[in-house]
Amino acid sequence: MDRVTDTPAAPSDAVRVNDYDGFAEDYAAHNESGVQNAYYERPAMLSLAGQVSGRRILDAGCGAGPLAAALRERGAQVSGIDASASMVALARRRLGDEADLRVGDLADPLPFPDAAFDDVVASLVLHYLRDWGPTLAEMRRVLRPGGRLIASVHHPFVDYAIQDPRPDYFATTSYRDEFSFGGRSAAMKFWRRPLHAMTDAFTAAGFRLCVISEPQPDPAARELFPEDFQELSTKIGFLFFVLEAPSAPE
Ligand SMILES: C[S@@+](CC[C@H](N)C(=O)[O-])C[C@H]1O[C@@H](n2cnc3c(N)ncnc32)[C@H](O)[C@@H]1O
Repeated sequence: MDRVTDTPAAPSDAVRVNDYDGFAEDYAAHNESGVQNAYYERPAMLSLAGQVSGRRILDAGCGAGPLAAALRERGAQVSGIDASASMVALARRRLGDEADLRVGDLADPLPFPDAAFDDVVASLVLHYLRDWGPTLAEMRRVLRPGGRLIASVHHPFVDYAIQDPRPDYFATTSYRDEFSFGGRSAAMKFWRRPLHAMTDAFTAAGFRLCVISEPQPDPAARELFPEDFQELSTKIGFLFFVLEAPSAPE
């Protein structure tokens, strides 16, 4: 039986949590060229995705669309969904009015038909969700048999190692943080869970685990961000998964 402990996200319930709307532009600019996203997370996702030309891809938690844009440049046909209307507006500005972009919560059913996609990519979004079961079931539903879910999350060992007091590793627990960009702050609420809870959730949703990856940063970061490069190449940061939706029920 999994242990689950919730922590209020913000001192006041009136404060909206995980709300990127207030600093969407500034966050997007940071994400666009900052070392963690542009030289570590995004290159890793693109490398795991491999050849995507002609593939229909859903970017779940697409933010301002930098990964969607990179996948489209490589020939994919990309749709996106994100809870923040402002982030989706930025993605639309980047990808154009014709792009299939939706505002929606990944805790809710996805507004796409069965088997609509060859891949779902989910960059740095699953750790905002308490219960992965319904979300992963929906991702599996919208994937064609043989399709892939490629996801990155906060590495569970980082959460355990750096937080004080050190949490119960085996419990699924929430914690709050504050993000500030461009002088604006927002309360963020994350859910950390042990590695086995992640892999159990994937397999319970019917996915087959193909790859677990702890990639190195892009070598181009060595000169541009020498200190960050040293950190990212010697310490754990994010954890990456490639999961396959089997062709026949297992
Ligand atoms: C760290 S940003 C990553 C954005 C994008 N995937 C990227 O890597 O550039 C997290 C994104 O997840 C979105 N998000 C958080 N919780 C969500 C939820 N429950 N449903 C949909 N999107 C969510 C936020 O609005 C934000 O755009």
